[in-house]
Amino acid sequence: MSSRVEEIVRRRVLTEVEKYPVFRRAAVALSGGKDSGSLLHVFTESYPDKEVIPIHLNLGIGGFSEASERFARMQAERAGLHLVVFNLERELGFTILDARRIYPKVCSVCGCFKRYLLNRIAFELDADIVLTAHHLEDFLVRMFKSVLNAGFEELARFKTYLPKNGNLVAKGRPFCRVPERMIAEYALLKGIPFLSEKCPIGRKVNIERFRKTIEILARRQSQKLLYFSSLTKLAEMLQNCGAITIQELKPCSSCGFLASGETCSFCTRVRKIKAFLERGQASSSPNTR
Ligand code: FES
Ligand code: ZN
Repeated sequence: MSSRVEEIVRRRVLTEVEKYPVFRRAAVALSGGKDSGSLLHVFTESYPDKEVIPIHLNLGIGGFSEASERFARMQAERAGLHLVVFNLERELGFTILDARRIYPKVCSVCGCFKRYLLNRIAFELDADIVLTAHHLEDFLVRMFKSVLNAGFEELARFKTYLPKNGNLVAKGRPFCRVPERMIAEYALLKGIPFLSEKCPIGRKVNIERFRKTIEILARRQSQKLLYFSSLTKLAEMLQNCGAITIQELKPCSSCGFLASGETCSFCTRVRKIKAFLERGQASSSPNTR
């Protein structure tokens, strides 16, 4: 017998997924945490006919990344799926800890790497869509921040589903109307193994402040949904009144994936990090002393 929470989570995920164009193969970003572990569970249970590829990015943040990969493996195994792992250090020759030496605000670099790599891996594996486990509060924080900082262009670009565009695979966020607390309950109910530890280097002070404010404003879960609908409507209005300039995307001069600049921000940052590390090695090698 399914519980009320299970029913609500499943229904909200189905409502979102049914809005997407028909797809065959889905890549699911699996971090090893409760959110993505629950997404993989509810999606595979609800759509047994779809092909699912769980993808894990090992960012090289010491014991945290090792534990994250271990939990992601357990979650994939439980669903009877093979986990695709991209190890940053093995593939690119550096870790997020190395990246932090040149980019102290490493969260935005990390976010850029995650978005880029998930898309690239999904594209190479011929997936039709990438599913990520961003939940209701993630969206509310982002939209609130945009409104209060007059980031109307950013708000107008807000979408819970992004269609395929050339070599950019479609993106779906089926948990956009599911609150984090409910996802945690779902994970516990279903006995999903997950890592509860948070990233030790990500300093998200601002996000935490917005998050707390939303918790104070929305005393009931239904209020969060109401805010979500209001802000989504506002985003649509901004889109329809031409408040945004449509950015023309062209292939990155280095990797070929569509980007707004000449070279995409992933390639630019990778180049900078590698150059920085090489300079460090050269100055410490015995021949240069
Ligand atoms: Fe990206 Fe921590 S997971 S900075
Ligand atoms: Zn590139």
